[in-house]
Amino acid sequence: MKALIIGDVHFDRWIEAERDPFAALTPEDWAGLDALFIAGDLSDKPRVRWKYAIRHLARHVDPGRIHIIPGNHDYYDFQIDRDDRLAEIAAGEGANLAQKAEIKVTDTRFLCCTLWTDFALRGDVPGSQVIARERMNDYRYIRHAKAKYRKVRPYEIVQIHQEHRAWLEDRMSRPHAGQTVLITHHCPHPELISAAPTELDPVYGSDLAAMIAHFQPDAWIFGHTHHRAEAREGATLIKNVSLGYPDEVTPGREGELLRRGLLGVDEDLRQVTAGP
Ligand SMILES: [Fe+2]
Ligand SMILES: [Fe+2]
Repeated sequence: MKALIIGDVHFDRWIEAERDPFAALTPEDWAGLDALFIAGDLSDKPRVRWKYAIRHLARHVDPGRIHIIPGNHDYYDFQIDRDDRLAEIAAGEGANLAQKAEIKVTDTRFLCCTLWTDFALRGDVPGSQVIARERMNDYRYIRHAKAKYRKVRPYEIVQIHQEHRAWLEDRMSRPHAGQTVLITHHCPHPELISAAPTELDPVYGSDLAAMIAHFQPDAWIFGHTHHRAEAREGATLIKNVSLGYPDEVTPGREGELLRRGLLGVDEDLRQVTAGP
């Protein structure tokens, strides 16, 4: 099994910057890839821009092997409740939407969903939701089709988070002989959200440490934070694989960052040491 998981491609920003981060990967990196997972934030404005991003990735990997987990940006100028349309856009390019999707690659099962957040990290859900609404573009650019296309609200995001979390718990409670890898856009662990605590942390992730300790998946890979941290919680490797915006990536470092999401051939994830 060989999979590459990349978060926060923000393809539109790299095009604007006239840089191609994927040129940094070698033919050996791409060779024999069973799956390419996008851990959210492929681009803003999916209706217009996803196809260009997917076509670009399809130069390197069969689009049928590309699985896109939507991030918050993938709903910009779009609607929170139109995953069916996102699936059509992906399918139009021969790729796959992976929202509440279980994808098996040889013996490994990948459980994929956006996850979002419960805003509960600081113990002040209403306060964190006010901060989110004031400071996050999500609440300006994402609309809710079934609510007469008004802007999405934080309590609706919490409902989706709970639904995604319940789905992950249900899937993890089903027996599986091989490894289990979770891929989400949002961060599941308080210690990996940011280098120093900020009041926006509850927007970027939730404290799911108890859930991780209970189910002990082999790995939980995520994006969204653009903070390239990793740790072990018991048996589970928890790792951010954000590429990030071009102005966050020094030219020459793209390959090193992208390779952080490479899972090796029959690699035992429980033996992988978490970096600093
Ligand atoms: Fe991002
Ligand atoms: Fe994001």
